[in-house]
Amino acid sequence: MSAPSINPAKLRSELSTPLEIGPFAVNSRVLQSPLSGVTDLVFRRLVRRYAPESMLYTEMVHASQVCHARELSKVMDVDLDEQPISVQLFDCRPHFLAEAAQMAVQEGADTIDLNMGCPVNKITKKGGGSSLLRDPETAEAIVRAVVSAVKVPVTVKTRIGWKEDEINILEFAQRMQDAGAKMITVHGRTRAQGYNGPAQWHWIKQVKEKLSIPVIANGDIVSVESAMACLEMTGADGVMCSRGTLGYPYLVGEIDYFLKTGQQKAPPTIIERLQCAREHLQGLWEYKGIKGIHQARKHMTWYVKGFVGAAELRDRLCRINSVEEGLDLLDQTIDGNPTPQT
Ligand SMILES: Cc1cc2nc3c(=O)[nH]c(=O)nc-3n(C[C@H](O)[C@H](O)[C@H](O)COP(=O)(O)O)c2cc1C
Repeated sequence: MSAPSINPAKLRSELSTPLEIGPFAVNSRVLQSPLSGVTDLVFRRLVRRYAPESMLYTEMVHASQVCHARELSKVMDVDLDEQPISVQLFDCRPHFLAEAAQMAVQEGADTIDLNMGCPVNKITKKGGGSSLLRDPETAEAIVRAVVSAVKVPVTVKTRIGWKEDEINILEFAQRMQDAGAKMITVHGRTRAQGYNGPAQWHWIKQVKEKLSIPVIANGDIVSVESAMACLEMTGADGVMCSRGTLGYPYLVGEIDYFLKTGQQKAPPTIIERLQCAREHLQGLWEYKGIKGIHQARKHMTWYVKGFVGAAELRDRLCRINSVEEGLDLLDQTIDGNPTPQT
């Protein structure tokens, strides 16, 4: 396939207006996806620093966990001044989702996103996540129930289908729109693909052609270049970044900045990334204690790359047992002024 001939100036001008999610306007066409185990408050604060106007998503939250929570902030960690923010919920029971959505709105959600794409067996076996692609009646009932329960816009994030010979995103997306969804994000992979193989953006283009609500493209957005190629190919109303942000909370801001100015931001230096890792580690410790340190191990390995000695440092960081241990390792590396890997 030949590389798409992109006209960035034309694309940028087409996408220069706010993203309208029903009555809620967002002054950015680049979104940070929900990532379980990643997009907690600490990570989102870093993303927000570089992308102040973008819509960020919480990790997916189980509706019954919300409904039964003694302390809501423990399951849904939304900052008071966090805006724009979407709370993503999952379950397959419309009444639970409706109740959870009301509580999420009380906590500050600007929109409610419904997860209809998670491929994990534990969730699909119970009728949630991507298994809703095989049960569009329930999916529709969920959207209708949540839409009538809350005043904020309700959105859906899903995949293109269950498996290659069962791709039903065109009918499915139409049903979600008819049920009252105000935006749909399409991850261009089937459930069977998991996270492997290229995202099939051509399906997203067809969804965009069919629907009148905004369509957000997701899958393989890892740089300004891939974001522009995806926007050009799909005609989508925006892009959502996912794995490209692991250890790189700058990505959403970099793409947003390019769309708004036509200029590429200078990438962070190795030292800046290590300082960001340091701040992330410290934040997780302050916010979650020892559990945060355990979670920080994977984040640290994502930050530490591209310089001489990175592999060794990763190896040590993924075994840290205290914040001091992690900070010491990072500080020693920063002080040693690491040499870029050629
Ligand atoms: C670690 C991880 C956690 C994820 N958690 C969620 C989640 O909570 N909700 C959701 O809708 N998608 C979740 N996803 C899917 C991503 O949001 C996204 O749809 C997918 O990774 C495709 O984009 P990419 O190819 O740019 O990574 C997760 C993906 C990963 C890798």
